[in-house]
Amino acid sequence: MYGMLDIEWCQSRGEGDGMWYGARVILLAALGLLARPSAAELDKKFNITIGYLPSITGERRDRQGLAISGALSMALEDVNNSTKLLPDVKLLLKWNDTRCDTVTAIRMLTDMTCSGVVAFFGPEGRCHTEAIVAMSRNLPMISYKCSDYQTSMLSNFARLEPPDTQATKSVIALLRYYRWNKFSIVYEESWVTVALTLENHAKKNNLTVNHQRPVIDGFKCCEEKMTCCAPGFWYQFIQETKNRTRIYVFLGSTAGLIDMMTAMESLQLFAKGEYMVIFVDMMTYAPKESLKYLIKTEDRGTTLVCPKTNWEMPFKKRAQSLLVVVSSEPEGSYEVFTGRVRDYNSMKPFEFPVPPALLEKSFNKFVSIYAAYLYDSVKLYATALHKLIEEETTYKNETLDYKKLMSIASNGTLIVSKMIHITPFKSVAGMSIRLDERADSEGNFSVLAFKNYTIEDIKCNASMVAVGHFQQSGKEFPEYKLNPHVPIDWPDGVKPEAEPSCGFLNEKCPKDDSQITSLVLD
Ligand SMILES: *[C@@H]1O[C@H](CO)[C@@H](O)[C@H](O)[C@H]1NC(C)=O
Ligand SMILES: *[C@@H]1O[C@H](CO)[C@@H](O)[C@H](O)[C@H]1NC(C)=O
Ligand SMILES: *[C@@H]1O[C@H](CO)[C@@H](O)[C@H](O)[C@H]1NC(C)=O
Ligand SMILES: *[C@@H]1O[C@H](CO)[C@@H](O)[C@H](O)[C@H]1NC(C)=O
Ligand SMILES: *[C@@H]1O[C@H](CO)[C@@H](O)[C@H](O)[C@H]1NC(C)=O
Ligand SMILES: *[C@@H]1O[C@H](CO)[C@@H](O)[C@H](O)[C@H]1NC(C)=O
Repeated sequence: MYGMLDIEWCQSRGEGDGMWYGARVILLAALGLLARPSAAELDKKFNITIGYLPSITGERRDRQGLAISGALSMALEDVNNSTKLLPDVKLLLKWNDTRCDTVTAIRMLTDMTCSGVVAFFGPEGRCHTEAIVAMSRNLPMISYKCSDYQTSMLSNFARLEPPDTQATKSVIALLRYYRWNKFSIVYEESWVTVALTLENHAKKNNLTVNHQRPVIDGFKCCEEKMTCCAPGFWYQFIQETKNRTRIYVFLGSTAGLIDMMTAMESLQLFAKGEYMVIFVDMMTYAPKESLKYLIKTEDRGTTLVCPKTNWEMPFKKRAQSLLVVVSSEPEGSYEVFTGRVRDYNSMKPFEFPVPPALLEKSFNKFVSIYAAYLYDSVKLYATALHKLIEEETTYKNETLDYKKLMSIASNGTLIVSKMIHITPFKSVAGMSIRLDERADSEGNFSVLAFKNYTIEDIKCNASMVAVGHFQQSGKEFPEYKLNPHVPIDWPDGVKPEAEPSCGFLNEKCPKDDSQITSLVLD
């Protein structure tokens, strides 16, 4: 059955359509059928086709297809026009909308595989099953938006979006920097892998995990009428843990974070500035969204209420007791890039209409960092392929033929391991990108803290702003670097400690009976 389907689907794989026209010209010339090939004819390149699996329609609200696809056609044009990168190769494109659906994505993937596609870019959202299907033919799959941790294990898979688990290395670097060697992990169920990774990293770094507690995300609690929906849930949770910890790392939604901090506030934990909360946000930092960690969306109304400099003390102390580890914002050159992405979106082959509201400047902000990841993934693939061809031909003193090219371009393990070797790589968004040993982007994370600081996008004079970032050090854990111009305002003027000086149970300051006696006698 499979065999028959295979034949039906795939009998034409890789035949004909990619043939090097120039090669045929030379062959004909050698046979004496042509006097002399013209320069234009010799200029013909080998054609290879890549597959793009965007989410253009479908159920995911954060699907990117309409906004970023131009980054792909732009990358192809840049590579194809380049005289340095893959001068003998022309990259062609096949694409189809996966509609945010795994089954649809796999159908497209198998159809494209059969039509001779050499490598895949995408899919968005979930990608584990798709990556396994590509692996069954050892075809490279490079994702620009998929943080499924399981996919890391596959040797044909690389990704430019750092998986959730990468952020944990930065959390560890932060904890170590401030000598918070004891902390508690609180996580929503969907973050269980990240929580386990964090716990593992903590062990490696001799950090003590005081508690490791799952909570159910508030929305689900209430939808399914569970006990955790009750308003007292968080209160009780904090009550139970507060005597044995000072530092909480929360992994989950911003709504959960706010609920937890509200309970901490009502238990007066922020009054003396002794507690800290560390939150991990996998979304890229956007200044205009920087109050989302402190004020719930539904409470914000349509117009954002800005914190004032003389904002009531409880709120300020609470806000100062929070640090957020977040994907860094891209740098300056990004604006030019997003303008080009917009142009390519509306050009062939995509020809997506630009919604009128998104014309002008505001569009730049609408083009997410995923556009850069998409562009970079094509560039990185092309660079890896170029290097491999060079090794195959120059060093071995052989000429490139179509068969050899296809066998390199479609060899997933070969391409992906080369991609790892050629990083760090300068992203089109300005930052430098490194793939780790599993071909996962290491990411570039920053730390946010509450400061009186004017943010133009929201015209507020206090918000969560970057106070430091993590620098990849070539070691397993990045190094935390403070921004010397933006010091942290600790809630009570001093950095909280991981443990009271006498220990959680006063065990480090045993009651000295003789002293008490002598005091009494005096
Ligand atoms: C690439 O080459 C084509 C054809 O020569 C040209 O029309 C196009 O403007 C070039 N694109 C870039 C980005 O240089
Ligand atoms: C953890 O502690 C062990 C034993 O005390 C020591 O050998 C190791 O170097 C420590 N690791 C780190 C990362 O500090
Ligand atoms: C925590 O400590 C306070 C004050 O020391 C005490 O009243 C309370 O019972 C303790 N709570 C727990 C759960 O141990
Ligand atoms: C490469 O091959 C060509 C022809 O096959 C030969 O003339 C040349 O000397 C070779 N160069 C090296 C470095 O082996
Ligand atoms: C793919 O590359 C690997 C080396 O990474 C090699 O062992 C394998 O034979 C190649 N596969 C094909 C089909 O060329
Ligand atoms: C990481 O991001 C920060 C802030 O955007 C930037 O200053 C730094 O150069 C970036 N680091 C790397 C290695 O790209």
